[in-house]
Amino acid sequence: MSKSYVEVLPPERRELFSKPQGQIPDPTVVVIFGGSGDLTKRKLLPALFHLEQSSLLPRELAVVGVARRDLAATFAADMKAGIVETGVRSDESKLRNFMEKVSYRAMHFDDSEGYVRLKEKLADIDRARGTKGNRLFYLAVAPEYFQEVINNLGKHSMNNSENGGHARVIIEKPFGHDLASAIRLNDAVANVFDEDQIFRIDHYLGKETVQNIFVFRFAQALFEPLWNSQYIDNVQITAAESIGIEGRGPFYEEAGASRDILQNHMMEMLAYIAMDRPRTASAEDVIAEKVKLLKAIQPLTAGNAVRGQYGKGIVDGREVRAYREEERVNPESSTETFAAVKMEIDTPRWRGVPFYLRAGKRLAKRVTEVVIQFKPPAHQLFSGALAGPCQGIPANLIRLRIQPDEGIKIVFGNKLPVPTTAICPVEAVFRYADAFGKYTANGYERLLLDAMMGDPTLFTHRNAVEAAWSIFTPLLHQWAGEATRDFPNYASGSWGPAGSDELLARDGRQWHSV
Ligand code: BG6
Repeated sequence: MSKSYVEVLPPERRELFSKPQGQIPDPTVVVIFGGSGDLTKRKLLPALFHLEQSSLLPRELAVVGVARRDLAATFAADMKAGIVETGVRSDESKLRNFMEKVSYRAMHFDDSEGYVRLKEKLADIDRARGTKGNRLFYLAVAPEYFQEVINNLGKHSMNNSENGGHARVIIEKPFGHDLASAIRLNDAVANVFDEDQIFRIDHYLGKETVQNIFVFRFAQALFEPLWNSQYIDNVQITAAESIGIEGRGPFYEEAGASRDILQNHMMEMLAYIAMDRPRTASAEDVIAEKVKLLKAIQPLTAGNAVRGQYGKGIVDGREVRAYREEERVNPESSTETFAAVKMEIDTPRWRGVPFYLRAGKRLAKRVTEVVIQFKPPAHQLFSGALAGPCQGIPANLIRLRIQPDEGIKIVFGNKLPVPTTAICPVEAVFRYADAFGKYTANGYERLLLDAMMGDPTLFTHRNAVEAAWSIFTPLLHQWAGEATRDFPNYASGSWGPAGSDELLARDGRQWHSV
């Protein structure tokens, strides 16, 4: 049974959260377009309920799910089941009270009349619940509906609440398909909402361990002085999943690993790893540094990238089918389910330090980790033959484990306690679970809360989206024009195609095992 994130803290820390720190959001109606889907059921409503349990939400809150199907009779029970399935600990009456704030409305996203009635319904809710005209629109819809919904919100003047409240919109990724389509989408949204009303969500930024990269680097003096090409040899970021595409064939056929994970989640992690220190921790300064960093990354070409697609194989002891045999996938698909790239960052801090990134489905296990490999010392005293079981002096590593088993490891050489000078790698280990208990909040809690507060720090700015697409678009266009004769080229349950190892071997390096 999972616990709220207040409960998991040691008692002396709980009081930090016993009152929301400073503020809680204004009264709000959260309107979820695509409200009948999995995201609402598995992530958004559980996150809102969890926040409410932690007294972090205003009492005057309402949630309206909007979707095409007529689900009025089953919606509440289905969503309630979704919350219960997350294992959140609560009694039935609290859950019932929460569900009283949740309602459903069936409408087609292109039905102009539907928006008129929705607007009336929201005004009714304002009167009944005191939500003061504040709106948070969440677009949990397939990307082809983004513009339709946004345009209709504009057409019906729902982009600015009439009675002095505020209107904000959260957009789920993918933000476009390449640079040109991202610019078109950003322009279309900008016709209706100002940038400070737009919250482009990347749930990786909601992850504690991703936010902690920023703290790890900038809250102390120990690491930052070493964080540059003088000391760092290379950086490796792995986002491996053992799952396949989970029935999302049509979506994944269009996306592939590059658009699904690398261009967004991994670029957010990379930005935190590599950005310069912002002047302050304000949203404006953090976003500006991130964008500066992304713009300094050299656009990718096929020469610096490897793509793969899984064949059948064994994952977690179970036989699984090849990507091309998945439901609603083209049996000759050339969509990549794995991608590895080598990135170069053209700044004084990073010139000459390769950043290797890889992401894939149906890999050997689920793990997301950043490995920072340091250079050997300028003058090595211990270079002679070393006795003992170790094969030489290890490179210093900092391993930032994003998930699972969240934590940080620092690897260094240690003298073996024997009467010779033999050196072995050892690890200094910090584990979230040991320090703070089992952590269960999903990233959406923090992000929903921040959007309700109007804080954009953990959201993706339009300039960042476009900078990230500028890096990937040349590669994606090149790949689209070149046949993939060797697909499938890795077995499910492996670490990807041979080309991934070759990408590093060309530089005399290899992937650290994660
Ligand atoms: C989503 C992708 O954005 O992130 C999925 O669309 C992927 O394909 C998921 O499985 C991974 O998220 P997490 O939080 O499980 O690492």
